[in-house]
Amino acid sequence: MAILVTGGAGYIGSHTCVQLISQGYKVVVVDNLSNSNIESLNRVRELTDTEIPFYKIDLLDRKSLEKVFEEHHINAVIHFAGLKAVGESVSRPLNYYYNNVAGTFVLCEVMEKYNIRKVVFSSSATVYGNPKTVPITEEEPLCATNPYGQTKLMIEQVFRTLYECDARWSVALLRYFNPIGAHISGRIGEDPTGLPNNLMPYISQVAIGKLEQLKVFGDDYETVDGTGVRDYIHVMDLANGHIKALEYLFGTTGVEAFNLGTGNGYSVLQMVKAFEEATGKKVKYSIAPRRPGDIGECYADSTKAKKELGWVAEKGIEEMCRDTWRWQLSNPNGYKLDQVHT
Ligand code: NAD
Ligand code: UD1
Repeated sequence: MAILVTGGAGYIGSHTCVQLISQGYKVVVVDNLSNSNIESLNRVRELTDTEIPFYKIDLLDRKSLEKVFEEHHINAVIHFAGLKAVGESVSRPLNYYYNNVAGTFVLCEVMEKYNIRKVVFSSSATVYGNPKTVPITEEEPLCATNPYGQTKLMIEQVFRTLYECDARWSVALLRYFNPIGAHISGRIGEDPTGLPNNLMPYISQVAIGKLEQLKVFGDDYETVDGTGVRDYIHVMDLANGHIKALEYLFGTTGVEAFNLGTGNGYSVLQMVKAFEEATGKKVKYSIAPRRPGDIGECYADSTKAKKELGWVAEKGIEEMCRDTWRWQLSNPNGYKLDQVHT
């Protein structure tokens, strides 16, 4: 069984490739490397002792994409490829619509041409906007607060329309909460370019001394300690969710959304404390104003994924922090320079 993984050189894609291969799937990767490094795939090859066909292709390049489907007998697609920085999406909205939405159009057209209609799509908890109730179920009204979120909503709608017009489509929309952590080997992990936007990479770069201190964005939310609460999920649990979703797709048609989270919310200060306890490193921080567009509290009700996919997140916050730190410590410069910090 061969799975085409778009964006497979990226953070979640590379971890999912490891799990797919360990479950006996053949993997073919397409990525334009706009936000990743080929070294991630070299390491997936090393971890799995498997050759992985890789195509440095932009999804918008239809001819090259068709060639991949000509050369491999693809059974299903996991579609990670997309741009994901919320702030950048506000300054370059057309770029986000074009890359994410038009890229998905081309992918779907090529899939139809080759008679493949099974796809797992990377959606996001961002489609819930500012949720009225937590924990959030898949029934929560959908609303996007920035162009990045809009692209996720639009793509979800594209898949619903495709199914309405052709009942052979089988699509899982996976709404991720906050993926963190790394493979236990420390060989692959999250490698943000420039200053990290997200909390966990920021914390680990403060801990290793690359950044001076964490700015805690707001301590006046209606949460346990006033700081923002999120549902952090280990990237390997998330990777396993994709395999469960694939298995599900092979037994059904339709379009279904699933929340992938742990169901537990942690505040920023709780995350700082958990990281310090798990790693023995101090994380310097100061309180700063709220980040525009942020919400107070967001965590998942993942009952549907448990019931219909047979998936639950297994790894706790301590493991997430430890694995993040192992990756950070052995790759202080991410994939760029493979030097060990002493
Ligand atoms: P990532 O940036 O590490 O991976 C995305 C990959 O897609 C990159 O390797 C990039 O080079 C590639 N790519 C982008 N546009 C492409 C194009 N037009 N053609 C070919 N390749 C292209 O991001 P990630 O964290 O691994 O996220 C994967 C997916 O999950 C994204 O769609 C993202 O929006 C979604 N998501 C991520 C998070 C998160 O916190 N990481 C949360 C919710 C949803
Ligand atoms: C961000 C994205 C969201 C995306 C999600 C998962 C924004 C506005 N939203 O959300 O679209 O789906 O990542 O990838 O970027 N924090 C700090 N200091 C920091 C960084 C973060 O205090 O330097 C706080 C935030 O205010 C928040 C929490 O840490 O309360 C988590 O932040 P982050 O990791 O950026 O995730 P989200 O805010 O959930």
